[in-house]
Amino acid sequence: MIILAIETSCDDTCISIVEAEKDKGKTKFKVLSNIVSSQVKLHAKYGGVYPTLAKREHQKNLPIILKRSLKEAKQKIDIIAVTAGPGLEPCLWTGINFAQDLAKKLRKLIVATNHIEAHILANFINKEVKNIFPAICLVVSGGHTQLILMKGIGKYKILGETRDDAAGECFDKTARILGLGYPGGPIISKIADPSIKGNLKLPRPMIFQKNYDFSFSGLKTAVLYDFKSRSDKVKHSKKYIQKMATDIQQAIIDVLIYKTLKAAKDFKAKSIILGGGVAANKELKEQFQSAIVKQELKTNLLVPEPRLCTDNALMAAVAGYFQWLKGKKWKKIEANANLRIDEN
Ligand code: KG4
Ligand code: ZN
Repeated sequence: MIILAIETSCDDTCISIVEAEKDKGKTKFKVLSNIVSSQVKLHAKYGGVYPTLAKREHQKNLPIILKRSLKEAKQKIDIIAVTAGPGLEPCLWTGINFAQDLAKKLRKLIVATNHIEAHILANFINKEVKNIFPAICLVVSGGHTQLILMKGIGKYKILGETRDDAAGECFDKTARILGLGYPGGPIISKIADPSIKGNLKLPRPMIFQKNYDFSFSGLKTAVLYDFKSRSDKVKHSKKYIQKMATDIQQAIIDVLIYKTLKAAKDFKAKSIILGGGVAANKELKEQFQSAIVKQELKTNLLVPEPRLCTDNALMAAVAGYFQWLKGKKWKKIEANANLRIDEN
């Protein structure tokens, strides 16, 4: 089964061609082509993603990437998978329209995929996974921060989510306050030095509340007030920026780990599954590992390799394969900017 997947939910234009094969009852995914065309440089000027600009870039990039991927894969396609949501609506429609035209032209079946589920299923690429359910999934990206109980593939319940900014958005917005550029996550993590303590006393919003929800806008505001209160000399000094970067990263990590481990204990999870751009953060992964050991939890930690944490179509191909197994006939796919993982 050869799957061609298209992912354009945000600012990366992605196409991947994957072969799914059953081997001794297990499904293996062989990557035939995986292209991510990043628009980061374009949006960096504005400090964030501009949907209409992103849509125009997707329209320009998709035919070029399609040609390249088909050339690389050298295989005939069986089905087409496309991200239907959640994401930026104009961007989603661009991918959907392109995928539907292609499916018509090639006379192939098309399936819709959920971007959050795809981030979770990125953990099934190049990895042997068994005995992992029930799992607690933490999806942390530029647009989402959700804790999800996963009882199996396709069986999800959202336990909690952010009430305002997403974790990635907090990295991006605080980096912007500090004048560090976009996207903020990779830049802040590079500058941060966990061996020092910033001691800027940033808040950990909602950390001890008895729910699985998050809030990051208060953290962003605290960074803004601190930054504004400093003299020009201090706020532009390397030392201050490094302290800030270290503390911002640690505040976000503290909340994510505390809430996720609480959910893992409450639901007796066999594994914790991370996904989304923020899961590419090395310090987050390492601190998750040590917290699991320290709290003596019998829980596996699954984290995709960094390039599979950020947006890509490989994960959409895996999600597409499992959608196809359900046997639903998708006639007309519609973009849904707010698609929920429990309403697939
Ligand atoms: O999953 P993703 O590529 O796109 C969305 O679906 O939103 O996530 C992008 C987000 C951005 O906010 C970016 O700053 C963040 O992921 N990110 C990181 C790192 N790499 C990307 N955040 C923290 N540490 C990183 N290493
Ligand atoms: Zn994403």
